[in-house]
Amino acid sequence: MKDMKKTIERINELKHMRNAVILAHNYERSEIQDVADFTGDSLGLSQQAMQQEADVIVFCGVHFMAESAAILSPQKTVLLPELHAGCPMASMITASSLREEKKKYPGAAVVCYVNSTAEVKAESDICCTSANAIEVVNSLEEEEVLFVPDRNLADYVSRNTDKKIIPWNGYCPTHNQILVSDMIRAKEEHPAAEVLAHPECRREVLDLSDKVYSTTGMLDYAARSAAREFIIATEKGVLHKLEKDNPDKRFYNASDFAVCPEMKAIDLKALLISLENMQHIISVPEDVRVRAKLALDRMLAIKRKR
Ligand code: 13P
Ligand code: SF4
Repeated sequence: MKDMKKTIERINELKHMRNAVILAHNYERSEIQDVADFTGDSLGLSQQAMQQEADVIVFCGVHFMAESAAILSPQKTVLLPELHAGCPMASMITASSLREEKKKYPGAAVVCYVNSTAEVKAESDICCTSANAIEVVNSLEEEEVLFVPDRNLADYVSRNTDKKIIPWNGYCPTHNQILVSDMIRAKEEHPAAEVLAHPECRREVLDLSDKVYSTTGMLDYAARSAAREFIIATEKGVLHKLEKDNPDKRFYNASDFAVCPEMKAIDLKALLISLENMQHIISVPEDVRVRAKLALDRMLAIKRKR
């Protein structure tokens, strides 16, 4: 406990010395969320990264998130404390496989979930996050949309738009393992609870939910809902802020196994070493960055609704 206090003090000291800001995703370890200057979902953190005046952004999240910050703010130094923290879903598509797929659908727009590499973003017309995917798709002129890489989010969007959605067959292993049986059990155990699910979950899981939201969408909704209890179908890390913000409400995981190991890779020690040694710097080759930024900028021009 004493060691932890010392580590946090040193992190804060270094943060000031380096003129750094710490951003943490809602799935990060609780102690990382607590030490961060800003927590949020993928959309909120991209916006924060852009607005920061600090010289250094320490991104406590996974590789694609730090990459997005580097794409949007090339004049800043972006650090990812654990270089191996990557998103398995982002690895389910490459730029060359996307180029091949695009040839099959020449009239389709390409919408790319931010959980993707800079190279894949560079091949896309526009990015989206779980918070704005429907708005992004509906903003397009094209009637056909190649939606990559998450098949579950693509399916969710296809049920909420008139456009024809062509999904890529990627998925989030953490969300995909939340099953109908988990939902039924959780609902039996907590019959009065409202059920909030993330759109990376399977269709049959979403069908058993009351609301579908990004992680920040869940936080906003739980705060304003009259319900006192909630079943949460997403990565467990989000419960930390849900509980902190709503001490009078109860939150239950739909599945105790909904843990993303990549999101838990960064601990306080890794964060301290990152600030101490200015590691690991994330950058994107300029030709890729410029094209990927276009796709991110188009998304950021669309106002957040959810
Ligand atoms: P959001 O917080 O944007 O909903 O993202 C979910 C996710 O899986 C990020 O990796
Ligand atoms: Fe990727 Fe899923 Fe982990 Fe998010 S929770 S980083 S989508 S594997």
